[in-house]
Amino acid sequence: MLKSTIAPMISTLQSKTKPQTLFPIKIAPFSNAISESPPTVRQNASLKTPSYKLPPSSAYVHLPFCRKRCHYCDFPILALGSSSTQTADEDPRISNYIHLLIREIEATRTHVDQHPPLETVFFGGGTPSLVPPRLVAKVLDTLRSKFGLCLDAEVSMEMDPGTFDAKKLGELMGLGVNRVSLGVQAFQEELLKVCGRAHGVEEVHEAIEIVGSCGVENWSMDLISSLPNQTQEMWEESLRLTVEAKPTHVSVYDLQVEKDTKFGSLYTPGEFPLPSDTQSAKFYRMASRKLAEANYNHYEVSSYSKDGFECKHNYTYWINKPFYAFGLGSASYINGTRFSRPKKLKDYTNYVNDLEGGLVDFQEDDDIDEVEMAMDVIMLSLRTSKGLDLKIFREDFGSSVAVELCKVYEPYMKSGHVAFLDHQRREITEDEFGLLVLDDEKLENEIGFIRLSDPDGFLLSNELISLAFGVIDP
Ligand SMILES: C[S@@+](CC[C@H](N)C(=O)[O-])C[C@H]1O[C@@H](n2cnc3c(N)ncnc32)[C@H](O)[C@@H]1O
Repeated sequence: MLKSTIAPMISTLQSKTKPQTLFPIKIAPFSNAISESPPTVRQNASLKTPSYKLPPSSAYVHLPFCRKRCHYCDFPILALGSSSTQTADEDPRISNYIHLLIREIEATRTHVDQHPPLETVFFGGGTPSLVPPRLVAKVLDTLRSKFGLCLDAEVSMEMDPGTFDAKKLGELMGLGVNRVSLGVQAFQEELLKVCGRAHGVEEVHEAIEIVGSCGVENWSMDLISSLPNQTQEMWEESLRLTVEAKPTHVSVYDLQVEKDTKFGSLYTPGEFPLPSDTQSAKFYRMASRKLAEANYNHYEVSSYSKDGFECKHNYTYWINKPFYAFGLGSASYINGTRFSRPKKLKDYTNYVNDLEGGLVDFQEDDDIDEVEMAMDVIMLSLRTSKGLDLKIFREDFGSSVAVELCKVYEPYMKSGHVAFLDHQRREITEDEFGLLVLDDEKLENEIGFIRLSDPDGFLLSNELISLAFGVIDP
């Protein structure tokens, strides 16, 4: 139930070098879908350019270096060795990679016609805070000169405790980094050890202190729930200390046990020392309750923020807007095409050479599968508290699917997992729905949004999203 739902939404998660759908759900080809009975996609789509066809104004930049690999992590990273600290200033592995990355950015620019200035840049990892600021400066300079960077652009960086001090953070802020995402994961020494983290609790507190003393206004904290041997008391303590640290944003991920990781070889989801699904759901509910009490808005399945501090960059993913991606294993979404770069450094080097030689196309659009696209939109938007905007869906895909979706979700509305909203975002009552459901046209016209409830609907999101897929592709 819980496992693949509350996963981090990070663009490096895709691994293949061929365009693919964001999530591993089997999807029939479009031609099948249009020969079926309604609802279909693309029958009455408006002439307006769909959002996924607009030129990107966001960029994900993958900085893959870590001191060591965490036991849960299957991201494309390069482990430098645990002796490496934030002073790894002259490490040629880092400077060579940055050189390659800059070549990729420059070569990408030659492949795109329109390029509005970037509104968001996200340095993800790995541990980007291991990269010396002078090299981060080179990447930002290249982005600025090749694509342009809005003056008020959101520039985020993932940072790990123990990899930066006030001087380094100050320098990064001077370069334009204005949002920090601090990978804390847990506040208990034993859990950090189990995870194979390269830092302890003391460094977590130091890092929080540094972020505060440098005056970073917009910062996020990452936590992982359902870790091995994690008790309810530990989780409660982590949430309490998080709230006390006053980040403007919190990401809470339920542990994903990935196949080729140390955790994958040691543990089976749902079995001791991992918590049961029921226990994981309790952790999720507790986070939702405690963070709401501290005035955080639960604006996405795994994301909480104070008013106005939603992560703008991640929002581009959830509203199906295009984005560039640069670096090892990163995945871009341009012109309706998802494209993942190679995960191995040697293959990535070849990719950059090929890109420079005009031999690869990361944005070819001749086989856009509208059904896959519609499914991605449904899945991504149902992860957010805004929900699925049926008007935009109709404009982009030619069918609102409202009538069928509402009918399929009716029992879940009654059980409190799904809410139907009108165009002014007022929640439609069960009695009102009872009348609307008698008349398909009224249903289609009156329902503006469908959203999952917090926390029960979010907890059931896998099942609910699968039901929606059944409607799109019967
Ligand atoms: C790109 S990762 C790494 C960022 C940073 N280097 C760190 O580890 O703190 C971003 C976040 O994804 C989450 N994450 C990564 N792998 C995960 C997994 N297998 N299960 C749950 N959360 C995971 C962690 O909370 C992590 O902070």
